[in-house]
Amino acid sequence: MPLRPLPLVVALLSASAALAHSGVSNPAVKARMHTMMQIADNTKVLGDMAKGKTAFDAEAARAAAAAIAAHSASVTALFSAEEQDPKSEALPAIWQDFETFSRKSEALTLAAAEAAGSIQSEADLKPALAGIGGACKSCHMDFRKPQ
Ligand code: HEC
Repeated sequence: MPLRPLPLVVALLSASAALAHSGVSNPAVKARMHTMMQIADNTKVLGDMAKGKTAFDAEAARAAAAAIAAHSASVTALFSAEEQDPKSEALPAIWQDFETFSRKSEALTLAAAEAAGSIQSEADLKPALAGIGGACKSCHMDFRKPQ
């Protein structure tokens, strides 16, 4: 049976993400942050492969992209109610222009779904990451507090 260490790594990263949210009391805010961390963890899987930090694995890369698409597809629902928490980095602009927010969320879902269906070789990683990373940045610039 081939060794498949990736799910374990993803699970460990998720555990650290859960710890990072221990100060958040609003469960709705915690849930949307958790989804963002799942998206970030899977993006890191692709980023580490693109940088050569981990070996290229087409199946694992497509699985990470598919996970991003799946989590991204739930973002609109997770943010639909205007939930607040002192630790939240969400800007009020989300609920002033939920249509634009939803469009940017959809753009990430599409970019990730395309990557999930198209990554075959190492050369496919960079363009996939450019599309996915561009979608993160485009939404964060307008809707997340500057870091
Ligand atoms: C449609 C908009 C949107 C897209 C697309 C998006 N984000 Fe976010 N992201 C947000 C918002 C809003 C927050 C702040 C949520 C909060 O603090 O309540 C956030 C927060 C985060 C956080 C911090 C989570 C935490 O623990 O507080 C990370 C990490 C993150 N995003 C990564 C990503 C990555 C990586 C991508 C792309 C692969 C991405 N996001 C795509 C809107 C988006």
